[in-house]
Amino acid sequence: MKISVKVPATTANIGPGFDCLGMALPIYNTVTIEETVLPGTGIEINVIAENDLVDEMSLEHVPMDENSLVYKAIELLYNSIGQSPSELKINIHSNIPIARGLGSSASVIVGALVAANELLGRPADEAALLSIACELEGHPDNITPAIVGGLVISSQEDDGSVVYRKLNWPQEWAITVCIPDFELSTDIARSVLPKEVPMKDATFNLQRMGMFVHAVATNSELMKLALKDKLHQPYRTKLIQGLDKINENLKHVENVLGCVISGAGSSILVISEKNNVDKIKSIVKDTWNDQNIKCDIRTVSVEENGAQIITEDNN
Ligand code: HSE
Repeated sequence: MKISVKVPATTANIGPGFDCLGMALPIYNTVTIEETVLPGTGIEINVIAENDLVDEMSLEHVPMDENSLVYKAIELLYNSIGQSPSELKINIHSNIPIARGLGSSASVIVGALVAANELLGRPADEAALLSIACELEGHPDNITPAIVGGLVISSQEDDGSVVYRKLNWPQEWAITVCIPDFELSTDIARSVLPKEVPMKDATFNLQRMGMFVHAVATNSELMKLALKDKLHQPYRTKLIQGLDKINENLKHVENVLGCVISGAGSSILVISEKNNVDKIKSIVKDTWNDQNIKCDIRTVSVEENGAQIITEDNN
């Protein structure tokens, strides 16, 4: 039997929502799991790059053995029903750039879990898949939209369960994803964060999170304030070459609501009204080009679907 699952990229944090806000984007990885017949062949994992930004150098850092997130995800699922995985061939068709803050790791965890769950006859429901995936990833902000799609606010409770609610993204707002040609590992981007933050910074983000929920519900200019953050971006901006300058250059562009780091970076998102997108794209492109950084910039809509089974072959 062979199952293929298509999983969207995701952007996390979106300004104030560190480790809790996330949104699915229309860039996809496909994870295919096939039961192989030869005993003793174990688990074989192959990654096939389908995007210029998923280059061989990026793939060198992706473990293909028992240390792979895909392997661990499948193992956790099998173990949850008292079994161990064996004899599986896993192909990952990779379109989501790696180490760019676009949820490539969440997508392969989710793709592997959903495909393996289907192979096993669906022993895990959505809640169980969310818990297993978040146990591996450590936070729910990429995992939840990768599974359920859309713009999502989620929390991970003490018992490991994930609670989420979907929010609407106003049709009037454009999301411009700007992906530079350099990687930033999430581990490095998390290592620069302090273990504790001043109470006034925590309060600042609480205020913006409340504003964010109101702003998306009402298509309000309040979003200009809501996208600000003091918990992670001040520490990470220096890791993203050119970001300070991009922020400065975008400051006076009419209709820009904000520019935020996508997840842990290195990509950034510019959120704006829909009428000024070309200007935004050229500002970001020119600013990075001035620093010899190539980039891929796309204006996209929210992907409302999460992981989807696209083929099932029972032979
Ligand atoms: N919320 C996470 C972070 C997303 O900012 O580190 C990246 O995995």
